[in-house]
Amino acid sequence: MKNLMITGGAGFIGANFVHLMMAKYPDYNFIIYDKLTYAGNLDNLKDVMDLPNFVFVQGDICDADQVAETIEEHQIDTIVNFAAETHVDRSILDPDAFVRTSVNGTWVLLEAAKKYQLERYHQISTDEVYGDIPEPKSSVEGDALEPRSPYAASKASADLMVQAYHTTFGLPTTISRGSNNIGPYQYPEKVIPLFTTNAMDGKPLPVYGDGKQKREYQFVGDHCEAIDFVLHKGNIGEIYNIGTGVEVENMRMVEILIETLGVSKDLIQHVTDRAGHDRRYSLNISKIKSLGWKPRHDPEDAIRQTVEWYRDNEWWWRKVRNDEFDAYYERQYGERLKN
Ligand code: NAD
Ligand code: TYD
Repeated sequence: MKNLMITGGAGFIGANFVHLMMAKYPDYNFIIYDKLTYAGNLDNLKDVMDLPNFVFVQGDICDADQVAETIEEHQIDTIVNFAAETHVDRSILDPDAFVRTSVNGTWVLLEAAKKYQLERYHQISTDEVYGDIPEPKSSVEGDALEPRSPYAASKASADLMVQAYHTTFGLPTTISRGSNNIGPYQYPEKVIPLFTTNAMDGKPLPVYGDGKQKREYQFVGDHCEAIDFVLHKGNIGEIYNIGTGVEVENMRMVEILIETLGVSKDLIQHVTDRAGHDRRYSLNISKIKSLGWKPRHDPEDAIRQTVEWYRDNEWWWRKVRNDEFDAYYERQYGERLKN
């Protein structure tokens, strides 16, 4: 492993992963391949982009020619695929880009990995592929995939294609399925950056339904360290869940956010629920722990630290909450907030 192509590396988790890996492996080369959709942002990479072993290529993972050129030019031996459309609410409004990128795009990358006989193809997946998990169960890697949103279905489809390329062609693949990530550089459509930036501007916090849904909020840096464990210590053909093993109810998350910012609880507004909203995700993380990894952050501290990052980095999020963001916000929340 020497020349890594990090697809989707200008997004939230991808950029955090690039930071971690460039600090840890200064002798590797990092080729960031990203389409720069609304969620891609070169500000996320500003601290590393002048390093000599960093290259940025603007490209779509669905573009087989450009993917092949990039692999040849930079003698890529490893692909880590973060590229995806990632927001459940947008997948309900407009599913097509989700299918294109996660289904077609993942297949394009797998074909290229096969043709160029790469050392490793790693797919970044999500706990959402398992679907809604009733108490007290936790998902293990061999469980059936029962995705319920177009986003989750597009990610589950990608996982199945990765597994098929491993089984049929012997492609050296691994998959990791992470729980909800939080931390610096997350686009403010996701709940914690959305609520923090809304609260800072005195806007309402639109809690879907009763707010009793549970998520395993994990600090993005912990997730990225675990992906590094899978790359360097994981077994080929295997899938690894990555989470905390601790669930936090959304209303508790909002309470911590409000306390951290010192704003009024009156900002909370319960609004019409998301269609098909999964009540609970829960991961069994024994397998990734057996590689020697464990999360460094307590989930409640991770929420506090994340809120503080947005509080202290208005320069980053004010640019991102632009006209395009406002148009999305109106479409997603306009009617909900009136009712
Ligand atoms: P993000 O939306 O912040 O970033 C996605 C990145 O992919 C952006 O930079 C975007 O420009 C790029 N991209 C999108 N379509 C592309 C295409 N066709 N070609 C090339 N680049 C493209 O997402 P994120 O939260 O950083 O998530 C990264 C990955 O991790 C995704 O695969 C997601 O499914 C997975 N994941 C996310 C979470 C989470 O909580 N955010 C949890 C588990 C897994
Ligand atoms: P989100 O950050 O969109 O992640 P995901 O749906 O992929 O888990 O949402 C996290 C939780 O917060 C989820 O239960 C939905 C809820 N939520 C709200 O209550 N209001 C909102 O405006 C958003 C975006 C999410």
